[in-house]
Amino acid sequence: MSASSGAGSASGHTPVLYQNVLTALNLHAGGRYIDGTVGAGGHAAGILECSSPDGRLLGLDLDTKALEYAAIRLEPFRDRVSLRHASYTAMHEEAFALGWDRVDAILLDLGLSSMQLEDPKRGFSFRFDGPLDMRFDPDGDFTADELVNHMPQDELAEVIKRYGEDPRARAIAKAIVRARPLKNTFHLAEVIASKAGTKRKGIHPATRTFQALRIAVNDELNALKVGLETAVGLLCPRGRLAVISFHSLEDRIVKRFFNRESRDCICPPEQLICRCEHTATLRVLTKKPIRAESVEISHNPRARSARLRVAERLTTA
Ligand SMILES: C[S@@+](CC[C@H](N)C(=O)[O-])C[C@H]1O[C@@H](n2cnc3c(N)ncnc32)[C@H](O)[C@@H]1O
Repeated sequence: MSASSGAGSASGHTPVLYQNVLTALNLHAGGRYIDGTVGAGGHAAGILECSSPDGRLLGLDLDTKALEYAAIRLEPFRDRVSLRHASYTAMHEEAFALGWDRVDAILLDLGLSSMQLEDPKRGFSFRFDGPLDMRFDPDGDFTADELVNHMPQDELAEVIKRYGEDPRARAIAKAIVRARPLKNTFHLAEVIASKAGTKRKGIHPATRTFQALRIAVNDELNALKVGLETAVGLLCPRGRLAVISFHSLEDRIVKRFFNRESRDCICPPEQLICRCEHTATLRVLTKKPIRAESVEISHNPRARSARLRVAERLTTA
């Protein structure tokens, strides 16, 4: 089944791996679907089109601005869509509020959208001058400013190392603490660049630290772990879960979760007798993650790092 509305978007965000996602979700008329990261509604529009005439979609996002874009994009399907300002970690409660106890497929397209990255006021990018914010949820009470200007140096170094995998984390944290108070993203990028070295392979030296701060501000990796568990609990037998990740930290979590949930025993290998009482809930449909073709990458450079993993809920689980 293919969606003719296509992958482009008036909002400036082009959904990645669009056709792969629609195929992976095994969409059909009358189905109930959750897009846990609805963003500008690009994938959501395809889901609704492929589940015509009566498939329903619950779309969640932490970003109220994104939900405004999604509402415009999904206007042609308005009778079949419910949009909610909520984290995908709360998808169970949100689905339950609609009277759904099971759904046919769930999509998580992680990270941030082009609209968020390119809005200087959100503070996500070192390419624009903006506040030290980086919140997905504008109502969230924890901003990048808290980390950059108030976190103890050792903890800041740990954040940059763990979430940015930057070998120069300690030096960067030290330089940030010395330069306090940092006022904006340009100031932060300049301080990082003074310690993180020059551009490598065209990658700006502040890339990893900005990623690390964003992950910490939004507690992204914990949300992902909770979201995956919750999603599996909501899927009907043969229901599909598709997750698009954009960096190795996310992808590792998805891969390990899928591996664990596809095994009947998760005892350590040295333990000869099983004591875990775990039963498999998923069948993994993507041994290796699906990656974008070069044509897609040439139109949408964000697709370069996208990795799609798909699993199906077992009928026996
Ligand atoms: C890559 S964009 C999604 C784009 C969308 N698939 C489309 O086609 O337009 C990721 C979205 O996830 C949202 N987001 C991030 N973490 C979230 C969470 N825990 N719960 C809900 N939304 C989240 C971001 O605000 C952002 O709008």
